[in-house]
Amino acid sequence: MADTRFKLNNGTEIPALGLGTWQSGPGEVEKAVSYALSIGYKHIDAAYCYGNENEVGEGLKQAFANGVKREDIFVTTKLWCTYHSRVEEALDKSLKSLGLDYVDLYLMHWPVPMNPKGNDDKFPKHPDGSRDLVKPEVWSHIQTWKELEKVLPTGKAKAIGVANYSLRYLEQLLPHATVVPAVNQIENHPSLPQQEIVDFCKSKGIHITAYSPLGSTGSPMLTAEPVVEVAKKRGVTPAAVLLSYNILAKSVNPERIKANMDLIKLDKSDMKTLTDYSKELEASKKLVRYVYPAFGVDFGFPDKS
Ligand SMILES: NC(=O)c1ccc[n+]([C@@H]2O[C@H](COP(=O)([O-])OP(=O)(O)OC[C@H]3O[C@@H](n4cnc5c(N)ncnc54)[C@H](OP(=O)(O)O)[C@@H]3O)[C@@H](O)[C@H]2O)c1
Repeated sequence: MADTRFKLNNGTEIPALGLGTWQSGPGEVEKAVSYALSIGYKHIDAAYCYGNENEVGEGLKQAFANGVKREDIFVTTKLWCTYHSRVEEALDKSLKSLGLDYVDLYLMHWPVPMNPKGNDDKFPKHPDGSRDLVKPEVWSHIQTWKELEKVLPTGKAKAIGVANYSLRYLEQLLPHATVVPAVNQIENHPSLPQQEIVDFCKSKGIHITAYSPLGSTGSPMLTAEPVVEVAKKRGVTPAAVLLSYNILAKSVNPERIKANMDLIKLDKSDMKTLTDYSKELEASKKLVRYVYPAFGVDFGFPDKS
């Protein structure tokens, strides 16, 4: 299970199990990355916005020194919102921090351009405290995608994709895309199945990577009754159930990094328990989105618009 791979629409393969690096603090993420790669993880998920690409790069360097081969692993990083009009510059910055010549996947982190000349490199704000966003008529996510397409011939990214794209945004983008995004990375777990986006992406050949599979930091999902029920029945932890349902988890704890590789094949009745839970939450309008930055933007997700 842990070595499952999925074919992307550019012909390359993405390992299903990945190590996330968001909120992995200084002094933690270097060790987490090198440890994960030493025990067989093949996929690391980074981002400029996480502010730790340098340390992720140190972890990669250690792993390479210990015999891991670059071509055997899959590294993703992401374009931040203040760099939408400076894609190659941003990618060069990330590659330098990561100590790599190329990434396997470069994602647009959010479909929202922010002022590249604002009062902060990552989260510029207006004097009244509101987000300093760029209006779509000045620079749209579609223009950003066109800039992402231009990096493919440079070889600095093997594949390009998007993240946090709702149906509305995908429908805006696809008619203008020469290259169909290889991936849409979205929040996904039993409390937020987002089935309509998953189905749409599948029909267009866009692979879904599920982030926050455990429900992110401090998640109540690890104690949600249906999850615990399947865990008891199968003799595994609730985390193993959630990760077997979807896998791109973050941990800086060696025991958990190792445990998170122990996936099980959920059978029909396990899946039914989890999907019934999702349906029940949906019907009672109790879906939970853990990661939703207060950009002040309607992203078109059904549970928020
Ligand atoms: N594209 C995007 O906008 C976006 C947004 C969010 C996340 N992501 C990516 O997806 C990754 C995963 O999402 P996430 O970090 O939000 O949340 P997550 O992986 O669902 O949850 C991480 C939390 O669970 C804990 N944990 C890890 N393994 C565990 C286990 N076996 N048992 C109990 N607790 C465990 C971690 O703590 P310890 O570290 O202490 O183990 C951490 O607090 C991110 O790191 C990032 O790379 C992308």
